[in-house]
Parts: sequence; C-alpha cells; structure tokens
Amino acid sequence: MPAFTATAPGKVILFGEHAVVYGQPAIAVPVFQVRARAVVTPELRAPPGSVHLQAPDIALDAWLSELPAQHPLVLPVHLVLNHLGISQPPPLRLRIVSSIPVASGLGSGAAVAIASMRALANFLGNSLADEQVSQMAFEVEKLHHGTPSGIDNTVIAFGRPVYFQRLAQGPHIETFRAAAPFNLVIADTGIPSPTSSTVGDVRRAWQADPQHFEDLFRQVGELVGEARQHIANGHLQPLGDLMDRNHALLQAIGVSSPELDDLVLAAREAGALGAKLSGGGRGGNLIALVTPETASAVEKALIANGSHQTILTTVK
Ligand code: PMV
Repeated sequence: MPAFTATAPGKVILFGEHAVVYGQPAIAVPVFQVRARAVVTPELRAPPGSVHLQAPDIALDAWLSELPAQHPLVLPVHLVLNHLGISQPPPLRLRIVSSIPVASGLGSGAAVAIASMRALANFLGNSLADEQVSQMAFEVEKLHHGTPSGIDNTVIAFGRPVYFQRLAQGPHIETFRAAAPFNLVIADTGIPSPTSSTVGDVRRAWQADPQHFEDLFRQVGELVGEARQHIANGHLQPLGDLMDRNHALLQAIGVSSPELDDLVLAAREAGALGAKLSGGGRGGNLIALVTPETASAVEKALIANGSHQTILTTVK
C-alpha cells in the first residue's frame, strides 16, 4: 500500500519574539531533533471523498466530515484540497505524530500543519513550494493564536535559519546560513504556556502604555539587527551578550517568569555565552548559547535546576 510521508522540524526563536508581532525583525532557526510526521495512505473500503484523521498523541481518530472545519488538523486538509482544486479526493487516511512538545514555543502547531499539508499534496500527486505551504500554515496559525507574526510557519516551511519581518505589504523573509555553526541548548521548563495568552497580555499592556512598549519593541528590533551581523561574521561572544540583553527586554515586556529567570541564570553560571527565554514565554523553553566544551555542563546545570528536558542543536 503506497504511503506518502512528510516531516517538519520544530523551531526556536533566537531573537525578537513578541516585538515581531509589532513589525520588528526577528531571527528563528529550525530544530531537527524534534519533528512532526504525517503519513497518508489510501483508506480501503471507504467511499470517495472520505478522509480518516488519526492523531494518536491527542487521541483523535475521526472522519474529517465529523469535525469542525476550523479544527487545527482539519483546516490544513481543506486548504490543500482548495489549493489543488480537488473537491473529492480518493479515500485516504492521514496519520499525524509529533515529538515536538506542545505549547512550549517549539512550533508544534505549524510543524503538524506543514507535515500534513506536504504529505497530503504528495499523495495527490503534487508538491507544495515552501512559500505556498508557509502561507497556508499561516492560516492555521491564526486558529492557535489570533495575531501570529508568521515567523513560525516561515522558519518551519523553509527549514532554514530565517530573518523575518512582518511588513504591511507582506512578510520580508531572508533565509541564511551561519558563518560559523554554533550550538544551542534548548531547555524545557515543563510549564505549558499557550502563546495566545502571552500575546494577548502583551497586547493589553501595549494598549495601556503604547509609548513605553513601542520603545521596548524598538530596542528589541535594534538588537536583532546587531545579532544578524554577528551571525554573519561568526562572532559568538557578542551574540551571547545580545541574548542576555534580549532576555532583559522580555522581562520588561512582562513575559518571563521566576522559573525561566532561574534557568537562564543557571545556564550562564554553568558557562553559557548567553541565555534567554524563547517563544511566547511564562513557561515553555529557553535557549542557551554554548560551545562544544560548555554544552554538557550547561545541560547538567539546567536539569539540576528543574528543566524537564534539554536538546542540543547546531545552527548552520
Ligand atoms: O510559538 P511561540 O511560542 O514560539 O511564539 C511565537 C512568538 C511570538 O512572537 C510570541 C508570537 C508570534 O506570532 O510571533
């Protein structure tokens, strides 16, 4: 029985979360150690147009027609069928599994959507360009949190480090390679934190004091510009310093937490060149910039200080 499989990586935001929602640039990188995987196979003995969805991670096993169109696993199917102009696909089964922790800033929602859309398009004899799949995943991201910047779907669809800015005329996207590969430890606080709630809180705080928050967002944007130069020149120590500064700005924006702050300090004390929360904040993940020599000490310190899991990844 032919099976069409597609995978999509997780991601972390290196610099610029939250400010990116307000038009400032940000930098994100794919994380290939965690992945969403979608497999599409023919569904035998079902009438044409039948789509059987299976997502064992969330105990979902249902026919597409039984679920609301705005369900985050259903919308990707409709988007692909509309895009390909297919109203009645051959009966099929779409099975989705993911090793990306949910609600932790690693892009699980976008990765699941992108893997599903690619596997489905392949099954239907098509392939989706990075830009196309990114745009469609952006529609799905809107279900997860109302005003996404678009950085998650972009970095995951392109599978490359990306410099991203949301502009009125559409997103500005530059993929890049690091001049010198560098290592990150990603550490999970174990505290789920839906992005929609931190993004909503920041919006309310910005509405209450727009000048102050726009100033903070502008400072984040400047720092992202500096970080980009250091990545292009392969300068690691200044990049670490910028992570520390970005974390301080995220504290000022109000999205850190005592757990994140403790872990960030523990990483720095164990030899990280810099550390910051990554993604929506309050819980989820933090990232620490490490060298091959300090990686293991930093991972140990993070676990000793309460991190549930660490991932060592190389940005290239
Ligand atoms: O999905 P997360 O938790 O990595 O958060 C995305 C980053 C934000 O800037 C907070 C929101 C957005 O849409 O860019």
